[in-house]
Amino acid sequence: MKIEIQTTADGSPTLFLPEMDEHYHSVNGAIRESRHVYIEAGFKQCRKAEIHVLEMGFGTGLNVLLTALEAANQKIKVFYTGLEKFPLPPEITDRLNYSETSLFRAIHQTEWEKFEPVNLYLYLKKIQTDFKNFNFPDKNDIVYYDAFAPDKQPDAWSPELFGRIFSSMNPGGMITTYCAKGSIRRMMRQAGFTVERLQGPPGKREMLRGKVL
Ligand SMILES: C[S@@+](CC[C@H](N)C(=O)[O-])C[C@H]1O[C@@H](n2cnc3c(N)ncnc32)[C@H](O)[C@@H]1O
Repeated sequence: MKIEIQTTADGSPTLFLPEMDEHYHSVNGAIRESRHVYIEAGFKQCRKAEIHVLEMGFGTGLNVLLTALEAANQKIKVFYTGLEKFPLPPEITDRLNYSETSLFRAIHQTEWEKFEPVNLYLYLKKIQTDFKNFNFPDKNDIVYYDAFAPDKQPDAWSPELFGRIFSSMNPGGMITTYCAKGSIRRMMRQAGFTVERLQGPPGKREMLRGKVL
C-alpha cells in the first residue's frame, strides 16, 4: 500500500494512505493531538507508580515516544504493549522526524513480541497482530484507542472489542480516543465504561474518555 509522509499544522509529520484516504494523525497537529488525547487526558490522569498501557494501533510509535518522555519526566515505570497489524518499514519510520531522534530510533529498534526498555522508565512490547482477534493482556491501567476512523475501518470499533478491553482493565483504568462519535460512545458505555466527552484537540470539538469505576 502506498504511504505518504505529510507535515501537519504543528510542524510534526504524519502518514497518509491515499488508497484509504486516511491519515495516521490529525492534520491540525500530530504531536498536539497525541499529547492532548493520550498523554494529557489518559496517561497523566493515572496516579500509580507503575502503569500498564495498551495501545490499539502502534503505527508510527508517536504515542510511545510521548509516553516514554512523560514517564521519564514523572519517574514512573511503564509497561507498554503496542498492537499493530501492519508494522511500518524502516524506510518510512527513519524519515519521521519527531525530534527525540535517539529515543524514537530505540522504539523502532526494539525486538517485537517481547518487553524491551526504550529508556530508563518505559518497557515496550510491540506485537504484530490483528487486535480484533487478540487475547489482550490483563491488568491494563490505560488504553490508547488509536485505530483508523470508524467510517474508514468500521470493523475496528465494536461493542465486543470494547467489552474485551473493559474486561482486561484494572479498576480505576481509563481508555481514551480521538473519536467523538455518538455511536462509539454508546458502544463504550455498553461495554461497561463510564464515558465522558472532553474537549478535543485543535480542530476537533470533542474526544472520548471511558473509565472503569
Ligand atoms: C490511526 S493509525 C494510528 C497509529 C499510531 N497510534 C500512531 O500514532 O502512529 C491506526 C493504526 O492501527 C493499525 N491497525 C489497523 N487495523 C488494525 C488491526 N486490526 N489490528 C492491529 N492494528 C491495526 C494501523 O495499521 C495503524 O498503524
